[in-house]
Amino acid sequence: MSTSDHPDITLDSLGDWRADRGCGTLRSEDIGRELTVIGWVDTRRDHGGIVFIDVRDRTGILQVVFDPDDDAESHRRAHGLRSEYVIAVRGKLAKRPPETLNTELPTGEVEVRVAEMKVLSTARVLPFPLDDEGDAGEAVRLKHRYLDLRRARLQRNLVARHRATKAVRDYLDDQGFVDIETPILTRSTPEGARDYLVPSRVNPGSVYALPQSPQIFKQILMVSGYERYYQIVRCFRDEDLRADRQPEFTQIDIEMSFVGTEEILGLTEGLLRAGAAAIGAPVPEVPFPRMTYEEATRRFGTDRPDTRFGLELVELSDLMENAQARVLAQAVQEGGIVGGVVAEDGHKFSRRELDETVAWAQSIGAKGLAWIRSTDDGWQSPLAKFFDEGEREKIEARTGLRKGGVLFLVAGPRKYAQGILGQLRLRLAEMLDLIPENQWNYLWVTDFPLLEYSQEAKRLVSVHHPFTAPREQDLERLESEPETVLADAYDVVLNGTELGGGSIRIHRPDVQSRVFAALGIEEGEMREQFGFLLDALSFGAPPHGGIALGLDRLCMLWLGESSIRDVIAFPKTQKAHDPMSDAPSPPAPKQLRDLGLKFTQ
Ligand code: AMO
Repeated sequence: MSTSDHPDITLDSLGDWRADRGCGTLRSEDIGRELTVIGWVDTRRDHGGIVFIDVRDRTGILQVVFDPDDDAESHRRAHGLRSEYVIAVRGKLAKRPPETLNTELPTGEVEVRVAEMKVLSTARVLPFPLDDEGDAGEAVRLKHRYLDLRRARLQRNLVARHRATKAVRDYLDDQGFVDIETPILTRSTPEGARDYLVPSRVNPGSVYALPQSPQIFKQILMVSGYERYYQIVRCFRDEDLRADRQPEFTQIDIEMSFVGTEEILGLTEGLLRAGAAAIGAPVPEVPFPRMTYEEATRRFGTDRPDTRFGLELVELSDLMENAQARVLAQAVQEGGIVGGVVAEDGHKFSRRELDETVAWAQSIGAKGLAWIRSTDDGWQSPLAKFFDEGEREKIEARTGLRKGGVLFLVAGPRKYAQGILGQLRLRLAEMLDLIPENQWNYLWVTDFPLLEYSQEAKRLVSVHHPFTAPREQDLERLESEPETVLADAYDVVLNGTELGGGSIRIHRPDVQSRVFAALGIEEGEMREQFGFLLDALSFGAPPHGGIALGLDRLCMLWLGESSIRDVIAFPKTQKAHDPMSDAPSPPAPKQLRDLGLKFTQ
């Protein structure tokens, strides 16, 4: 029976044919060997007389030649081959004639002269071409992810990810860590995102939460005496997705007993070196530079600074307190700040670009963004009229604004102003092409505040999570001045992306209860939600701490990709949808009945 439009294509069975070698592994020294290769038809050039096919398997590409003088039957059938058919060929490896040598291909000096062929599978016309340059939309690629995953770049990425993961496991094994699995059907672990919930059929009205991280379980494993735990583990968070966020992602999750911050940072640095070496990224020098949270937010407007370029923030509050520009002065009088950032090459910006930058700032929540251009004719700015010569000189001295530059200003509460300026800094660096390639700035950010006030929740919330230890010397201020308490917490950042974070944990039940109380968690709720942890801590808990690194993000950065989707085999879209399996999908009415659930929308 013909399985293709072409009359010459009938399917053969694999039988006892096995590939002797991977297509991409053959070289001139193999010339003369009789061999079998098996793979996909990558490209086909049919010159009438002779048919050339590039056969592809996971090792690479090899040219095979169907010449009627070698085997008339195979040659006749080769006219019917199409892209992505799966074939097996037997023949002799030969040297390519000089005019067909391909120096760009590792197998470019050799070809198989086909003596026999089997067609193992046919393929429909593809929805998009597989070559790397293809620019088919992401939706269609994800719908046919099995095809997308055939592309060389994704194959390279997934194999490289495997290598990095293996190196991390080996490294941790060498350091005495034990890989222990923790539950996926569990209770909520507060990491700041919404939970994914799974209704329980046998416990009507109750749900499991998928873990946002194994945080509580790994701490309990310390109480249980395992001392060094790790897990490469899937975590689930229902949050707004971005290029570096997926609803399910993988952490390298670590916890250790009887250590302080230094051991955890040192171990993590070693792990990152091992992973980078295995994946082929530059191996970072250690120790990594460190910066406190206060310095990071003051200089870069964020707790994950990209230190590959300047454009640092400057504060001008004292110069603006009595300025005639009302919005600026008022912000300072109300306890906020006026902060700025100078683009030295700002003269490159057209007036339109400046207006667009102001509009962009508003789109990310800025109430306003002022700019001052320093030109040969003096200041150009909607604010220029408010500043006399003396004030201008002071502002220039403070900010380093010179002719040709533009100073951007944001006024308001400190956190807000720094946040806007921090994002503006990144945007300006991109607009001015200031971000160097092939530079790998790893950085520790330390001394985070333990708690911060959330406008949304109208209460204090944890900056990391509620199990993070306050610094010993700050503990006495937990109730009186909670926002001044710093935590024994740290994040590791690479080129402005947060790779991971961790902390020394609270191991005393009394301190844990005080932190819950500071977070506004009532006694009853505390017992209800975290009673088991408080109980565990009351049975001889060792001092402990740990860290979790985002494996997807690490691989993305190490491989020079701009989205974590490119290092995940089956990622989801920005709307947390999998176009291939079409998940999520409505449940069957019987499933809803079994679970006792009803959708109201
Ligand atoms: P944290 O919440 O900082 O810490 O997570 C650790 C790291 O996980 C990665 N990550 C993500 N990657 C992809 N998609 C996401 N949605 C996503 N969310 C987080 C980041 C992040 O730095 N239990 C603590 C760790 C600890 O204290 O030991 C935790 O989960 O790279």
